[in-house]
Amino acid sequence: MPLDILVGAQWGDEGKGRMVDLLAAQADLVARYCGGDNAGHTVTVGEQTFKLHLIPSGVIHPHTVGILGSGMVINPAVLFSEIEALAQVGVEIHPERLQISYAAHLITPAHLALDRALEQQRGTDKIGTTLRGIGPAYTDKVARRGLRVGTMLNSQAFHQELRQHFEEANQLLTTMYSAPPLDIAPILEEYLEYARHMAPYIKDVSATLTKAIHDHQVVLAEGAQGTLLDLDHGTYPFVTSSSTTASGALNGLGLGVGCVGRVIGVTKSFQTRVGSGPFPTELDGPIAEHLRGTGENPWDEYGTTTGRPRRVGWLDLVLLRYAARVNGLTELVLTKMDVLSGLETLSLGIAYRLEDHVYEDLPLGPGALDAFQPVYEEIPGWQADIRDARSWDDLPDAACDYILRIEELMGIPVRMVSVGPEREQWVEIA
Ligand code: IMP
Repeated sequence: MPLDILVGAQWGDEGKGRMVDLLAAQADLVARYCGGDNAGHTVTVGEQTFKLHLIPSGVIHPHTVGILGSGMVINPAVLFSEIEALAQVGVEIHPERLQISYAAHLITPAHLALDRALEQQRGTDKIGTTLRGIGPAYTDKVARRGLRVGTMLNSQAFHQELRQHFEEANQLLTTMYSAPPLDIAPILEEYLEYARHMAPYIKDVSATLTKAIHDHQVVLAEGAQGTLLDLDHGTYPFVTSSSTTASGALNGLGLGVGCVGRVIGVTKSFQTRVGSGPFPTELDGPIAEHLRGTGENPWDEYGTTTGRPRRVGWLDLVLLRYAARVNGLTELVLTKMDVLSGLETLSLGIAYRLEDHVYEDLPLGPGALDAFQPVYEEIPGWQADIRDARSWDDLPDAACDYILRIEELMGIPVRMVSVGPEREQWVEIA
């Protein structure tokens, strides 16, 4: 079977976790390919709801094998606390159920301290990172001084590399950022202990996945963050430090380009982002409050990893078309349609204006958005509560028109629409 890739088509938090949950029920392997514990997927097992940041949420299905790919950065403390949390709800993770690429990189307390120090130094220009050490870990990778997971298999080499890593970080922290140094001895011990625990999980995941695809198993690549946070294709510099797009899945898992089947883009039916950076269709006032929710429910627009209120706005189809282009999306999944219920009129951002020019595409990519004003098309809203809708015919005409207009402006089909936070609250569109 070809590889299906599920990718966020906006700035992350599109509801990918729920879609993974649905698709993973049919999958043999679910693989994460980018980022680290900056991601946050809410998972429900029985009566319990909790958050996974690192382990692919698909592993809650007992028949699936989870993969952490070479494109990832892994904080072992988070990894083992998630394995423990899953065990408490009866989901046993062991090396038969989780494989970690030897080429993934490690996040250490030095990366966490540097992330904090860098953000403090940026002051009002801060990126608004999740402070999980993501940027500094990828910086070390690119500078070719990173700590690869595979080194954990050689305790002498790992000990040496770790010591050097912490000593260099301490020098940076104290001289560049006037931050306190780390106490190296206890964290060295802690990481050597992690190495012992992690060793049986460390594999060549590229080989595992290639064989699985060859053997007609169902393999799902689970994207984290979103297209507009991609290091190359996002709203640079307000991006994360990894390749979040569909092509990142191939590189971040060590797969050849010929293996791809569906590329499923998940988008909310409006727009949100956390952290700084441009957001042309951003709203404030009563409509923003309506879209954001009060924060009382786990599905309201407050960050899963940081708890920060998310910025909200109208769906931006210029950016969504861009996401379709850079990912090669074959289809769309539209989430949180129920949140639009009760609004008199909806707006879709269909183009941008700069002085006398109207642009239907991004002339200079998403990094240079500040100067543009969105051009909106207004569409009548609907008042009915749609949370009980399970088929196209259950949706009010105005909701159907909204979906059809998005399809028309995008040129790709909308396959699924979510109408509530529960597992069964989906409308599949034939
Ligand atoms: P970092 O990935 O922690 O370096 O953060 C860089 C930017 O990406 C910040 O604006 C974060 O808020 C954003 N970001 C990182 N991970 C996620 C995510 O999973 N969802 C939404 N935004 C994210």
